[in-house]
Amino acid sequence: MSKVTYFSGESFPLEMHKVRIIQKLTLLPIEERLRAVEEAGYNTFLLQNKDVFLDMLTDSGVNAMSDRQQAAMLTADDAYAGSETFTRLHAKLSEVFGMKYFLPTHQGRAAEHILARGFVKPGQIVATNYHFTTTKAHITAQGGEVVELIEPSGLSVTSDEPFKGNVDIDALTNLINERGAENIAFFRVETGTNLVGGQPHSLSNLRAVSHICRRHGIPLVMDASLLADNLYFIKTREPECADWSVADIWLAISQLCDIIYFSARKLGFGRGGGIVTDDLKIYESLRAWVPMFEGFLTYGGMSVREMEAITIGLDETLDEDMINQGPLFIAHFVDEMERRGIPVVTPAGGLGAHVDAMRFLDHVDQRQYPSGALAAAVYLASGVRGMERGTLSEQREPDGTEPLAHMELLRLALPRRVFTLSQVQYATDRIHWVYANRRIVGGLEWVEEPEILRFFYGRLRAVGDWQHALVAKFREDFGSSL
Ligand code: F0G
Repeated sequence: MSKVTYFSGESFPLEMHKVRIIQKLTLLPIEERLRAVEEAGYNTFLLQNKDVFLDMLTDSGVNAMSDRQQAAMLTADDAYAGSETFTRLHAKLSEVFGMKYFLPTHQGRAAEHILARGFVKPGQIVATNYHFTTTKAHITAQGGEVVELIEPSGLSVTSDEPFKGNVDIDALTNLINERGAENIAFFRVETGTNLVGGQPHSLSNLRAVSHICRRHGIPLVMDASLLADNLYFIKTREPECADWSVADIWLAISQLCDIIYFSARKLGFGRGGGIVTDDLKIYESLRAWVPMFEGFLTYGGMSVREMEAITIGLDETLDEDMINQGPLFIAHFVDEMERRGIPVVTPAGGLGAHVDAMRFLDHVDQRQYPSGALAAAVYLASGVRGMERGTLSEQREPDGTEPLAHMELLRLALPRRVFTLSQVQYATDRIHWVYANRRIVGGLEWVEEPEILRFFYGRLRAVGDWQHALVAKFREDFGSSL
């Protein structure tokens, strides 16, 4: 049991674990938060963690480990080649994915790098339900083009559709007819689709995609970084799978794919990554890149301790009581914000809660980056660090034009097993306060704009002087700096 009904009739998520190691947090006064955000160029990636109260930047590499993971880390076999730790990880991956071959990488984007080098030739297309930042950067760096085929519901902020990450099957057929299967390097399905709000695809949609890809000889590649959440959503939202075990759903997904890669900073509660396949030819064609870019074939840039942690983390991912904690907390967070009238992405997905900055700051022009401005305003009001997922996270076209994102989202990630319900409650309250004062918040403009993956380290400033007005209003309303 992990969601309980109280005597009052209301339901709340209930953690199926207890906290045994803690890290003390600091909540700075708002004037200090203003100094910190200005020093960070209004980019939450550039904030120092000591200045952050609740770090909701990402769920990557910051999930809480279990006692079993910590214990396994101490048994790591420290060898450059032929480590027993690698053998254990490989065996666990073969068990859960049902695939024989494994190429380790230091994290998810390194797997993307290898796949892009191995498969993408200049002018070729990579079709996908939706792009991810690092994936797109690697594909375009090889001269490839990314074509998105997500169902329209995926791009509408509010919807009743349970699987907003689904592929538009007609669009896939049209793409093949118009551009030719031979020009499609591979189809990439991103499970738990990140940039549209951690939204899942269904098993039946994946079946349809797989069927078409196999008929046309197009390799089907899955980005399984957010698979844990998607497994949970298939189990709870797809009637066909209601009585299946998580392990069975996982294997059914794998059987539809030719190659699966993942960031183990998300999947498996550790830090690392890799590529699995059941196809010896594919394995052999990619293998040479691993020692060249990552490390020898039995570690691929990962530390042996992390590999032990991932092995146990993958085992824990088979446990519904473990993987439901994230989605249930996120659903609670989303419900609480909705109850206060805050515009959020619905239905709640995995990874985190997503606030709709386009509606929240409907007076801020999209070229002044409303989701970046909202991330800065929420940090100022609460010490909570979220992440811009909108136009700032896009890259300019080769001719310098700036594509506007489909959605302007502020992502508030909930790293798995990390936060308590009262911390989620606090974040909700302060976002509510920003919402009540949203007209004070203005846009952002560039001070330094890097060419590649600009959102990671670009610097901006507030347009006008809204930041000082927000600080003054905070002091007035709360009567203190906290
Ligand atoms: N694919 C997806 C779907 C991801 O969410 C990420 C990372 C990657 C690939 C790259 O993996 O970080 O291990 O190199 N997402 C992080 C995030 C960065 O914050 O959403 P990585």
